[in-house]
Amino acid sequence: MTKKFRVFATCDIGESLELLRKRGYVVEVYPKPEAPPKSLIIDRTKSGIDGLITTLRDPIDAEVFEAGKGTLKVVAQIAVGFDNINRADANRYKVPFTHTADVLTEATAEFSFFMLGVLARKMWTAEHLTRENQWGYWHPYLPFLGDEVTGKTIAVIGTGRIGLAMIKKCAGFDMNILCYDPAYQNHDYVKAIQEMMNLRHARGIQKEHTWIKYTTFEEALKQADFVSVHVPLLREGESPTPTYHLFNERTLRMMKPTAYLVNDSRGPVVDETALVKALRENWIAGAALDVYEKEPLPADSLLRDPAIADRCRLYPHFASAARITRLSTDPNKGMAGRCVQALMDVLEGNYGGDVTKMPYVVNKEAFAK
Ligand code: GLV
Repeated sequence: MTKKFRVFATCDIGESLELLRKRGYVVEVYPKPEAPPKSLIIDRTKSGIDGLITTLRDPIDAEVFEAGKGTLKVVAQIAVGFDNINRADANRYKVPFTHTADVLTEATAEFSFFMLGVLARKMWTAEHLTRENQWGYWHPYLPFLGDEVTGKTIAVIGTGRIGLAMIKKCAGFDMNILCYDPAYQNHDYVKAIQEMMNLRHARGIQKEHTWIKYTTFEEALKQADFVSVHVPLLREGESPTPTYHLFNERTLRMMKPTAYLVNDSRGPVVDETALVKALRENWIAGAALDVYEKEPLPADSLLRDPAIADRCRLYPHFASAARITRLSTDPNKGMAGRCVQALMDVLEGNYGGDVTKMPYVVNKEAFAK
């Protein structure tokens, strides 16, 4: 390599950074576990870095791109979601930005499924009961019962990579599956899942003959026992099909009172005030969340209300937090490895230097001829 590239990472992403250093890059890392102030990101960008490694906690917009004018060549985000990066601004300043799709698909989908299980079978409440020595007897229905997942109907809202992986996992639990996506439908995948369901039934692997189909948002909400959310956060004006507050008073009221909601996509897709009301007033049976309108979850969030603790599971934006998923240096396995590969692709001019051919670049439209 002839040029020494300079990179600033807004957090430590592990050994993959060593890989860059070994290639001659000068890498500076924000050393604290929490996100750096925006002023510091701007300051480091202004210092003439070539590449900026970001997390979903960092607001990347015109101010940052302006600071990097003439020098900043790539923003490499370690996440699949990129709602923290202003795409229109990146395009205006012609800075490609990358993400780490695919490598976290299965981890995120399995986390959705596990949250669903913990919620439905009341595993958190049951463990507390045991730990707190409140387990006084075995009884057919006391002190409470949960709901079985096997054989139930799930609505998968959003059938991109993670939604499709969730469908695959739910099919393995003999669930009927209602699919909804405002923008992207994969009928081939749904057909293949139905064929698998048919075979499992024909061979006696599952007793009930289950089904899968696309439907409307309303029908999905009305019929499902579980609703699992897998959409990107798109605010008004960012898309013809925005997802901000897709779950609100009106739509939460469409769900069955026995149904559960699971969300590890993005917090603002769910109106938390409406959800708290739905849980307090039993419009729905429960919810499990891994993402929030404001992160980390504020101390005074109403979601912490002890009155709904038995039916509201809360996790710390943790769905992709599996060792290999997060940190493997292999770009085909780990977010860190993929993030660094994406950065190198742009800086080192891989794919003939054609940004539109680079697999991890998101805003290809800004570079299309
Ligand atoms: C995590 O939320 C991600 O977008 O990767």
